[in-house]
Amino acid sequence: MARLNNLTGKEWIQFTKSWFKVSSKSRGKNEIKHPAKYPEELVDEFIKFFTNENDVVFDPFLGVGSTIVSAERNNRQGVGIELNPYFYEICKSRCSEKAKIFNGDVREKIKSISKDTIDFIMTSPPYWNILSKKRGNSDSQHSDREKKGLQLTYSNFDNDLSNINDYDVFLGELAKIFNSCYSKLKPGKYMVIVIQNFRNDNGEYITLAWDIVKKLEKKWKFCGERIWLQEDKKLGIWGFPSTFVPNIHHHYCLVFKKNEVK
Ligand SMILES: C[S@@+](CC[C@H](N)C(=O)[O-])C[C@H]1O[C@@H](n2cnc3c(N)ncnc32)[C@H](O)[C@@H]1O
Repeated sequence: MARLNNLTGKEWIQFTKSWFKVSSKSRGKNEIKHPAKYPEELVDEFIKFFTNENDVVFDPFLGVGSTIVSAERNNRQGVGIELNPYFYEICKSRCSEKAKIFNGDVREKIKSISKDTIDFIMTSPPYWNILSKKRGNSDSQHSDREKKGLQLTYSNFDNDLSNINDYDVFLGELAKIFNSCYSKLKPGKYMVIVIQNFRNDNGEYITLAWDIVKKLEKKWKFCGERIWLQEDKKLGIWGFPSTFVPNIHHHYCLVFKKNEVK
């Protein structure tokens, strides 16, 4: 069987631990314009485990292009799609001319990508409409951005997945997008989705991470999760002194695999 990567046994075993922390550089003046980017250092770890040099890495929800930046600095080819032209332009300014990036709705633009050409998918989709909901006065990141006059949501476009009002419709659309990614991936290769469970504005706990696994399991093989712990976030005093309400300071990195050809 071909090697999945060129890691040593020691590096391999470290990656298989089900939780991890990331030490990342602070965001530059352009990256900060995006309300929910993930650190390139997080992507680096996954790219080094799931790919080899010159492999093709795809992100259907590019944002400001953290996946492509990581792919390129690890000598991989980056491919991706972003709906909002503002974020797309920032992404473009951060990557080389070799990157194949598209501006538009992933449901349309994905048709430009040929079948069985991608070696690895790494992405983080909108977490439903979480960014447009006020989650209480101790939601410090949200209010810090507001004070600095930074963008709080992705866009007001109708085809922005984060503007779908109904949770089941959102989940169905998201599942369809990931299932359309399936045919683009080479057989036996992997996809990692960075996602979170969260509380909505009326206090209901939305199990987005678990729900998307259930939806995708019909087509994909779910291989497990790695939990990204965020130690640097401020704690809010929710529910005190009567009710349990968690500070959600972790994301799931869900690992899926496309079947090998029989
Ligand atoms: C969680 S963010 C991705 C951030 C990215 N990982 C980064 O580090 O910059 C999700 C992105 O999905 C984009 N998006 C929303 N609906 C989309 C659609 N229909 N097609 C393509 N992109 C979409 C949003 O504009 C947003 O930038």
